[in-house]
Amino acid sequence: MRDTRLAAERAGVLDDEAARRSIDRSDMAGAIEGLPGQLRLAADRSGDLPVPDRAVDVREVIVLGMGGSAIGADLVAGAFADRLRVGLTVRRDPMLPAHVGRNTLVIASSFSGQTEETLTATQAALERGAPVVAITTGGRLADLSRERGFPLISFEASGQPRAAIGHGAGLVLGLLGRAGLLAEVEVAEELRLAAAAVDRGLSAWGPTVASAQNGVKGLAQLLHDRLAVVVANDHLAPVARRWKTQFNENAKVWAAWDELPEAAHNTVMGFGSPFWTGERVFVVALAGDGEPGRTVQRREAVLELLDSERTPFEVITLAAGSRLAQAFAGVVLGDLLSLYLALLRRVDPTPVDAIARLKARLS
Ligand code: F6R
Repeated sequence: MRDTRLAAERAGVLDDEAARRSIDRSDMAGAIEGLPGQLRLAADRSGDLPVPDRAVDVREVIVLGMGGSAIGADLVAGAFADRLRVGLTVRRDPMLPAHVGRNTLVIASSFSGQTEETLTATQAALERGAPVVAITTGGRLADLSRERGFPLISFEASGQPRAAIGHGAGLVLGLLGRAGLLAEVEVAEELRLAAAAVDRGLSAWGPTVASAQNGVKGLAQLLHDRLAVVVANDHLAPVARRWKTQFNENAKVWAAWDELPEAAHNTVMGFGSPFWTGERVFVVALAGDGEPGRTVQRREAVLELLDSERTPFEVITLAAGSRLAQAFAGVVLGDLLSLYLALLRRVDPTPVDAIARLKARLS
């Protein structure tokens, strides 16, 4: 009875527009709704993105970026792992690995253009003679591209870097296409399909869809006050990572992500730990429609173990379509979920003061 009343009270915050706006003061809801537009813009630009002249014998691609400026490239690496002609690594560190050199296409990705780790690694890449291209809204990275004469892909966006994931992923994908590194991929079409998948997600689970019809609002109620652990495999593993970071930055909560099949080789040993069972953890497993049978079997076996330890979980199957469209359906679902968790916790999803303080302290 008490639980039902609590759930109804919480649903009020999620469904009452005035209450929502009083918490979501900088309009993260609007930023999430902007995602399909970003993907369509990247699709329109994909035919004429600048590629460095020296990117002729590219043997690997490294994307340098942190946080919201790195995750888009992870999504691309995951979705096109089966069609990329060379390896793509996303590097979140100022140190550049020894193998980066003249045959490495280096993509420096920073929303602000001011991120220290990305700038340091970009300087190192220039010193190694690697072909470099920048993706940014401006800042020091844009200045560096003018000073050192490497191509700049700039985009306009206000708000938070993490809300620009459509620009990040779309421009990286466009660049890979222009550099001839994708086999049989219609880049613009891929991006439009992904945008359509996000549109469908927004219509089904968006802020104006009432709790009674909105499974994502329901999931937010289940996750509220618990540690969310998001588990996925293959091209959905970066989506699990995105969920984790959106829970951190939007809802201001701890969260974790893990990857299958690796989790079957270690994480499962923690399932019986008495402190973390039952009440405190909620596992969400992301699945793709049309997965190979072996993948499904593996996940089911792991979830059976979880069940035997009485830890609650839910499997979310992302609708069929291209790998990128599936991944973006997962992204918008997680972004909305993190927004609803923030509303339930009554915290403004947009500001990330601790990150800004850390950046100021370390600059
Ligand atoms: C904040 C966010 C952060 C930033 C990160 C790097 O919304 O998403 O994770 O992306 O601090 O900063 P930028 O993206 O400016 O290089």
